Amino acid sequence: MVDYIARDGVALLQVNNPPVNALSHHVRVAIEEGLKKAGQDPRIKSIVISGKGSFIAGADIKDVSKPTILELCDLIESSGKPVVAAIKGFALGGGHEIAISCHYRIAHEKSKFGFPEVDIGILPAAGGTQRFPRLVGLEAALDLIPSGRHIGAAQAFKLGIVDKVVRGDAVEEAVKFAKSIAGEPLVDRRTSQRPVMGAENAFLAAAVKLAMKKKKGMIAPIVCLSVSFMGSLLPFEQGIQVEAAEAVVVFTSGQMGALQYAFFAQRAAPKWLLPCGASFKTVKGRPIRNAAVIGAGTMGTGITMAMLNAGIPVTLVEQDRKFLDKGVSLLKLLYAGSVSLRKITQDQCDAILSKLNTAVGYKSLTNVDLVIEAVYENMALKKQIFAELDRICPPETFLWTNTSALDIDEIASATRRPDKVLGTHFFVPAYHMKLLENVRGKLTSAETVASAQMFGTRIGKIPVVVGNCHGFVGNRMLHKYVYEADFLIEEGCWPEDVDMVAENFGLPLGPFKVRDLSGLDIRVRGLLEQAKAAGIEINPATRFLNGERISLLSKSLVDKGHCGRKTGRGFYNYGKPGGKIPLNDRFIKDVIVEYCAERGIERRKVAYQEIEERLFLPLINEGFKILEEGIASKPEDIDTIWLLGYAWPRHTGGPMYYANMVGLDKIYNRICHYNELHKHSAHWQPSLLLKKLAASKTPMKDWMEVAQASSKL
Ligand SMILES: NC(=O)c1ccc[n+]([C@@H]2O[C@H](COP(=O)([O-])OP(=O)(O)OC[C@H]3O[C@@H](n4cnc5c(N)ncnc54)[C@H](O)[C@@H]3O)[C@@H](O)[C@H]2O)c1
Repeated sequence: MVDYIARDGVALLQVNNPPVNALSHHVRVAIEEGLKKAGQDPRIKSIVISGKGSFIAGADIKDVSKPTILELCDLIESSGKPVVAAIKGFALGGGHEIAISCHYRIAHEKSKFGFPEVDIGILPAAGGTQRFPRLVGLEAALDLIPSGRHIGAAQAFKLGIVDKVVRGDAVEEAVKFAKSIAGEPLVDRRTSQRPVMGAENAFLAAAVKLAMKKKKGMIAPIVCLSVSFMGSLLPFEQGIQVEAAEAVVVFTSGQMGALQYAFFAQRAAPKWLLPCGASFKTVKGRPIRNAAVIGAGTMGTGITMAMLNAGIPVTLVEQDRKFLDKGVSLLKLLYAGSVSLRKITQDQCDAILSKLNTAVGYKSLTNVDLVIEAVYENMALKKQIFAELDRICPPETFLWTNTSALDIDEIASATRRPDKVLGTHFFVPAYHMKLLENVRGKLTSAETVASAQMFGTRIGKIPVVVGNCHGFVGNRMLHKYVYEADFLIEEGCWPEDVDMVAENFGLPLGPFKVRDLSGLDIRVRGLLEQAKAAGIEINPATRFLNGERISLLSKSLVDKGHCGRKTGRGFYNYGKPGGKIPLNDRFIKDVIVEYCAERGIERRKVAYQEIEERLFLPLINEGFKILEEGIASKPEDIDTIWLLGYAWPRHTGGPMYYANMVGLDKIYNRICHYNELHKHSAHWQPSLLLKKLAASKTPMKDWMEVAQASSKL
């Protein structure tokens, strides 16, 4: 299928699969083997790929066996030894994609090039739509790819597809050329690494870029663009027909249904129902006339602002004057910003701030309806504060905590009013983010839940009632995603690979850009505290905590002073402390490689699909466990939490809706697959509820009946 001829330091791989040298499975395997053999032979300095008779054209589009054409193209392009395509006759479709993956192309003057894929309704999907614009520029690519037109060697040379056109034997010329460039650097010869010329000038490109950024992953904006653009070139009546035809594509994409679902899920979220039967219909909340906030840090000031904006008088309390002044200055600065942006007038600003009181210590809190605690995430400190508040505040005062993960019951145990203790989990910035997770403890009364829901709505939030467990709903699910993101890096990805997949899925920032923003040290501190609680001494070799796989990669970076944006380096390089533009960094990659080598972790190429599944499936699996345990009372609540608190892409409805859309049996099977591979991560153990729902094919509206039967409450 492929002859391997070695001479004078050049390996010639000649495809021999008449009549057109199509890229059948055997041909692809033989090219792959030839490349490996040439790569390993120290006598071989360069490689030539050619075809007997004509070059390469055609493939069976249904054949996706490995190596795929895309994989082969990547292999050719990444070769450390120069690869030259010797082209006679036709380089079409997959053959064209192979040719543009080579580092150089020598073509006979009568050869032809083209992408005929569109004529059978498909794309040049072995990287053709991506490499070709990088080789010839956007304008020529947008002309040639959608047209399916063939061009001759002379035009191919003019466009930069071909490096040299010859009259004689292209293979002999290519071998001669290959010898002459042996050992030369290949950096600028790798097509995929080049920028696309012309993209920056095309307004259409700018519009597409904007739509991709603002409405990531959504089909409708791109279709709107293409239909509007097509319409501009057609008579009105024909434009209307194009619009109608494309509308069918959008209507049947499933995204429209997901967006409608997201709207109704959000509207239903504040409607709560407890396992005891109490609900928003049967229990009335107590209105909050005034409140206090303990802690004037990031969250305390944000929560204070949210309440002041709703007209609730607030006393902001700190442990000492210095911290209090800092918090109040921050608040005043934020309000001054609103005035200068004309969101409020100076008079409104003064009126709002007149409702702010401040105090050092809790003694003055003898007449408040509500206290929200927002001090450091430390159980002993929170319990001490709750005990003190319990002594000072009137018995009917609600005592709520903004903890992001701690046990509400344990905090409540420090008081004599556990029925009035609840978690109000705000999101950063608390004055802006719409989500409020209201966490009910074992002893939290229905009246307290009703009051917290009423309070949430009053301050402009969408409040969702959730149960008490580590991380509640949102952070509990998030933790699994964060763990897998780290493991993917350990196993072979770079931070930008993982972030790209998450961002393509529709999240505004990938997990590593988020971590750089919040600070790597925060996660490391959490891990070390977890280890301390488990009585484990962390050392460089530690890979398990309580039998669970952990990653200390963030610690390795923090140990080198890389805490994220604030220090100028984290998983990316930001140029300077506080820098905002993430750049990929060789040094960070060296730290990762060294980290893996020290632990004997073999790095490998991780496929796109695996990255996507390993990021999102554990989080979805955890969502089903949450439903099964009664921590959330309906899938819509979980989806609302993710849509509002974590910017989950709305066009997929939320993690639960997305799972339903993909198919629960498929989701379940993939989770089982990874569970087999990753025995040391409990988050891969499939949820029993998911298993039941997948087997019974229960529609989403009836999930809770099955969940209630499995609930541990
Ligand atoms: N920052 C976030 O992203 C975020 C999000 C949701 C929830 N939370 C939770 O909110 C809480 C506060 O987090 P933060 O980021 O605002 O912390 P922070 O470090 O910015 O602020 C904590 C403040 O509490 C004050 N404080 C400490 N002990 C005190 C005491 N005894 N009396 C009065 N004030 C005291 C500190 O002086 C400090 O100003 C934590 O429980 C955290 O887990 C944080």
